[in-house]
Amino acid sequence: MKTEKLGQLPNQPSLWTRADALKVHTDDPTTTQPLVHWNFPVLSNEVFIWDTMPLRDMDGNVASVNGWSVIFTLTADRHPNDPEYIDKNGMYDISRDWNDRHGRAKMYYWFSRTGKDWQWGGRVMAEGVSPTTREWAGSPILLNDRGEVDLYYTAVTPGATIVKVRGRVVTTEHGVSMVGFEKVKPLFEADGKMYQTEAQNPFWGFRDPWPFRDPKDGKLYMLFEGNVAGERGSHVVGKAEIGDVPPGYENVGNSRFQTACVGIAVARDEDGDDWELLPPLLTAVGVNDQTERPHFLFQDGKYYMFTISHKFTYADGVTGPDGVYGFVADSLFGPYVPLNGSGLVLGNPSSQPFQTYSHYVMPNGLVTSFIDSVPTDELTTGMKFRIGGTEAPTVGIKVKGQQTFVVAEYDYGYIPPMIDVTLK
Ligand code: FRU
Repeated sequence: MKTEKLGQLPNQPSLWTRADALKVHTDDPTTTQPLVHWNFPVLSNEVFIWDTMPLRDMDGNVASVNGWSVIFTLTADRHPNDPEYIDKNGMYDISRDWNDRHGRAKMYYWFSRTGKDWQWGGRVMAEGVSPTTREWAGSPILLNDRGEVDLYYTAVTPGATIVKVRGRVVTTEHGVSMVGFEKVKPLFEADGKMYQTEAQNPFWGFRDPWPFRDPKDGKLYMLFEGNVAGERGSHVVGKAEIGDVPPGYENVGNSRFQTACVGIAVARDEDGDDWELLPPLLTAVGVNDQTERPHFLFQDGKYYMFTISHKFTYADGVTGPDGVYGFVADSLFGPYVPLNGSGLVLGNPSSQPFQTYSHYVMPNGLVTSFIDSVPTDELTTGMKFRIGGTEAPTVGIKVKGQQTFVVAEYDYGYIPPMIDVTLK
């Protein structure tokens, strides 16, 4: 293992400003996800799935193995018969079951010959392998043609630690299995100097690792979600964070409580076992409290950074839909500018504000997400809305310079491979 001291790289965070966020327009058809019909199919009646993590290589290419596509998903059992989730009318309270899912999230995998119609694989790690109660989002990386896979993910409660576990993908004519995944290695936690800790803010976020190789300098880095370090309430929303706003928009209210950032770390070794935290690439102080699951698309020599965010995590005086937001730069360390002026790339329509979430933009312009909840035709179904916990229709976007456009819609959970790796 080669270890080298990298020193401080030039890295000034770019700012997603309040002025940028004022340009966010819900329901612009070029940045709005087509309506998801309430009559959607579910992947499984036994489990809910949400964050979907396609198997990929370090360059971001979605990979199949011996012709088998593989996805990892955050997964939790559904409890239709558990007395704990039966309401006072004797009905299954699926909303409460769904809302409780984060506390029992586990990593599962699924496989397919067609890039859709996913077949159940099972749990990636056996019970007891992961050191904490929750297995939160990350990235499964196919390392080589021996089928070795590094799963980077977040071990949560107690604490939040970026970890990884190595295993192997094995295929037969009939399916795929994941073997190994027995030794979880802690990589790093928030440091309190650049990235906020739990002690500084009980609502802190530090999760969702996305390792990658920089196409320009060839080094191994990792994006993750964080909040800017400092005690809760101590952040300052100044001129820089506000940006160039029209008269009457200077009041920032309580927006100092919203402090999201996209973090980055650099590996000191080729295996990605030893990491150094660097200052955030992007901060959203005074704008939004969550920039989740950050990831890159490398295209035309540019760095397109995408991250998911919610309406409810926006600060006072700014708003936008649940969906995926994006920023572009000519070099890894920025400066980043918001795509489409505002940052919004693909948001939910106002008529179905919670229809999907956790969008992941693949290098082929296909965007996968999960169905959260969709309003129903109450007369037909007797319900106001239907909970998903399953794959949403994939959306196609075109990324052009500093703009993006919705251009296509595909089948539910369509995640076709971009490369096929034949195992040796
Ligand atoms: C996004 C997310 C991730 C987190 C997981 C927890 O949907 O909030 O940031 O890892 O879900 O369930």
